[in-house]
Amino acid sequence: MVARDADGRGYILSNVVRSQFKQHELYGGVVPEIAARAHTTCLDHIIAAALAQAHVKLADVDAIAATSGPGLIGGLIIGAITGKALALATGKPFLAINHLEAHALTCGLTDGLPPPYVMLLVSGGHTQILFVEDVGGYRRLATTIDDALGEAFDKTAKLLGLPMPGGPSVEAAAIDGDPRRFKLPRPMLGRADPNFSFAGLKTAVRHAAEAIAPISDDDVADICASFQAAVCDTVVDRVAQVMRAVVHRFPDDRHRPFVVAGGVAANQVLRAALVGVAETFGYSFHAPPLSLCSDNGAMIAWAGAERHARGQSDGLQAPVRPRWPLDADAAPAKGAGVKA
Ligand code: KG4
Ligand code: ZN
Repeated sequence: MVARDADGRGYILSNVVRSQFKQHELYGGVVPEIAARAHTTCLDHIIAAALAQAHVKLADVDAIAATSGPGLIGGLIIGAITGKALALATGKPFLAINHLEAHALTCGLTDGLPPPYVMLLVSGGHTQILFVEDVGGYRRLATTIDDALGEAFDKTAKLLGLPMPGGPSVEAAAIDGDPRRFKLPRPMLGRADPNFSFAGLKTAVRHAAEAIAPISDDDVADICASFQAAVCDTVVDRVAQVMRAVVHRFPDDRHRPFVVAGGVAANQVLRAALVGVAETFGYSFHAPPLSLCSDNGAMIAWAGAERHARGQSDGLQAPVRPRWPLDADAAPAKGAGVKA
């Protein structure tokens, strides 16, 4: 739950997060049916806990927001129906939130940062660079032509026998590793278009591990460190490309913010690399605190609050959308499995 003060600055009243990794661990990945069932069993407890921690009664809430896409349809339906039921029962407005938009607006909640800004959105399903013109105004400047970055972390972890979620496991294992030991590819480096590709890197990791099997803990650490180094070089190169191209789009030349968000934004090595590229190109660097990088209720509530403050709401007939691009007009990128 979030609220705003008289100046419009947001703050968090409660942020109850329930992860399901334990339920999926046995299967080595998220099982849609289990995810949907887990939503039905825990949502009412989460809502009760969020209200209790915030010391707020449901009747005192201004509006109710629920994620309505993109993502796995089962969990989306349950979350959105629950939000709509609460809205119907209380007579409050309902807001159907694009979870990517919630990532894109989190820095408004944490840093009080308004658009425009350049944003790198890196999660389990998406890897994009956006120009955020305004709340609701998103221009996609780059996307991945195959895997998302979080997906590459998760697949690398799985391959090396590290636990879910893969990103934090790879980051932890890499701390003691040698990032120069394995010469992994830097996909798309130097390419004129700013898009991403991670499928080849994932395959190179598999080949590196197979070539020295059976692998020790030291080998795992070196592979993870080498993987992260390759990721950072690639991402920095892609972000630099965009930073150069959009300098002129900021109304005030002394104020050019760069934002990173999404689950992978929690990665400290990547954050440090992005601080560097922002400095080089004269951008200020902004990232949510680690606890607000991965999916959470506060960011959804804040996206709802931002839209509510602009007089927007969605009817109870608002659909859930497994696919929901932030920039519907973006030209398609060519690649094996392009994510919108
Ligand atoms: O935004 P998010 O919580 O959910 C999606 O929208 O997908 O992002 C989850 C992704 C997962 O792939 C997870 O492995 C990755 O973010 N992630 C990380 C780290 N923490 C989470 N990747 C790299 N380093 C981390 N510390
Ligand atoms: Zn996310």
